[in-house]
Amino acid sequence: MTEDSINKIEKLFPTYSESNDNLLALINKTSQIICKWFSDAEQIGPLPFDSNFKCSVPDEFGNSTDVLFSEIESLIYGSFNPVHPGSLAHLDPPPLNISIVGDLIAASLNNNLLAHELSPSISLLEDAICKWFSKKLGFNESAGGIAASGGTLSNLNALVAARNHAGLNADQNAIFIISEEAHSSFDKICLIMGLGKNNLIKIKTDDNGCMDISDLRSCIDRCHDEGKKIFSIVATLGTTIQGSIDPIEHISRICKDNNIWLHIDGSIGGIFAITKIPIKGIKNINFANSITINPQKILGITKTSSILLVSDINVLKNTFNTGLPYISSKSSVLNRGELGIQGSRPAEIIKLWLGLRFLGMQGIEHILHSSIEKRKYFEKNLNIEKYEYCSGPLHIISFLPKGMNKKESDEWTLNKRMALMSNNIMLSRPLFKNRFFLRAVLGNYNTSAIHINELLKLLD
Ligand SMILES: Cc1ncc(COP(=O)(O)O)c(C=O)c1O
Repeated sequence: MTEDSINKIEKLFPTYSESNDNLLALINKTSQIICKWFSDAEQIGPLPFDSNFKCSVPDEFGNSTDVLFSEIESLIYGSFNPVHPGSLAHLDPPPLNISIVGDLIAASLNNNLLAHELSPSISLLEDAICKWFSKKLGFNESAGGIAASGGTLSNLNALVAARNHAGLNADQNAIFIISEEAHSSFDKICLIMGLGKNNLIKIKTDDNGCMDISDLRSCIDRCHDEGKKIFSIVATLGTTIQGSIDPIEHISRICKDNNIWLHIDGSIGGIFAITKIPIKGIKNINFANSITINPQKILGITKTSSILLVSDINVLKNTFNTGLPYISSKSSVLNRGELGIQGSRPAEIIKLWLGLRFLGMQGIEHILHSSIEKRKYFEKNLNIEKYEYCSGPLHIISFLPKGMNKKESDEWTLNKRMALMSNNIMLSRPLFKNRFFLRAVLGNYNTSAIHINELLKLLD
C-alpha cells in the first residue's frame, strides 16, 4: 500500500474537521466480532480447544483493515474466554459491559495521568475515586491514593513509600515481613527494591492460612537482636490459594507498638471491605498505613485496575516527588505522576469510575455476596468423605482427595484438570504446602448452581 492510498482509503487518525465515519465503522465492526465471540463462548468453552492463531508481524507495506480484521478474529477466537461460566481457574472474571466502554473511552481520549495538563478532568476523577475508597475504608481527610497497573505495582508503590518514610532507603538492614501465604510478587518487589533474600522474612501460617502471631512476635524480637530494621509488615486480606485473611487487628497493634508501617495487600479481599458484607476480620482496617485494592480481580473492571490507598497522601508525595521539569503547571496543581512509580499512565480510572457508578453500592455488594455464596454452595456440597479442602471467608476454595502425597497430588490434579477441561470447566492447579491442589475461584457472575452441580458431579 502506498502512502497516497493509505491516506485515501484508510484514515490513520481521527479527523478534526470531517466526520469520523471510518473510525465509527471500525468500532462497529470490532464490537460485532467481540459480541459474537462472547455469545459463542457456550460452544467454545473457557479455552479454545485448538488455537491455530498464526502470529503475523509488521511488514514493509501496511495492511488493509480487511486483512487485519481476519487476523483480529483469529486472535480473539484463540483467547481465554472469561465470560464462559466454566471459567473458574483464576481471578479473572468476565468484564463488566460498562467497563469495556470505559476502556474504549480511555483509549480514545489518550490522556496521560502523568500530569494534570495532560488529563485535567481524569486527574480530578482519579483523586476523587481514591478519596471515595479511602473514606469507605475509614481513613480520614489526609488520605488519598493512586491507581497502578495491577496489584504488584500497587504493593510496590506502598513498600517503596514505607521504606522511604522510615528513612531506610540506603540501609542494607532494612527488611519487610509477609506471611508464607502472601503473593509470590513480593519476591519480585524485594528484588526490584534492591533487597536480598534475607531482607524479606516470611512468617508461618496457621491451619487456616493466616499469619501466625506468635511467630511474628518472635521474628520481630529476633530482628531487634540482630540489628535488622523492619520498615513494613504486610498483612494479606485474601490469600491467593484459599482467600484467607491475616489477623489484621493483632498485626496492627504490633505495628503500632513497634512503629512499623502496616501495609494490607487487599488485592483480592480489599474490595469486600467497602461493603456491609459481614466478613470476620475485615472491618476497621483503617489503622493500616496503606491498602491495595484490585477491582479487576472480582468486580469485573477490565484489566488493569488497581489502586493503592494511603492514610496520609503526603507520604506518597514525599516519596515520589521528583519534579517534572518539562511540564508547566501552577504550584497548586498536583501532577499525579509524582505519586507513584509509573510515569505515563493510561486513564484506567475511567472504567473503574463507570463500573462503580453503574453498579452502585447495592450492585457491588450483590456481585461480591453472590461469589461468596457460590463458594459456600460448592463447599457445602463437596464430598468431604473424599476431599480435603482449604478455604477462607471469601470466594476461593482449593481441594484435593484426602491423604495424597506430592507425587499423587501432581498426577491427580493434572489428570482431573484435563478431564474437567474437556467438559468446559477450567480450574487452576496451585502448588500449596508442597502438594498440588485444584482451585476454584467462584467470582464468575455467569456461573450458576447448575454449573457448580456439574463440577461437583465430575468430581464425585
Ligand atoms: C493476594 C495477591 N496480591 C497481589 C497479586 C498481584 O496482583 P497483579 O497480578 O494484579 O499484579 C495477586 C495476584 O493474583 C494476589 O493474589
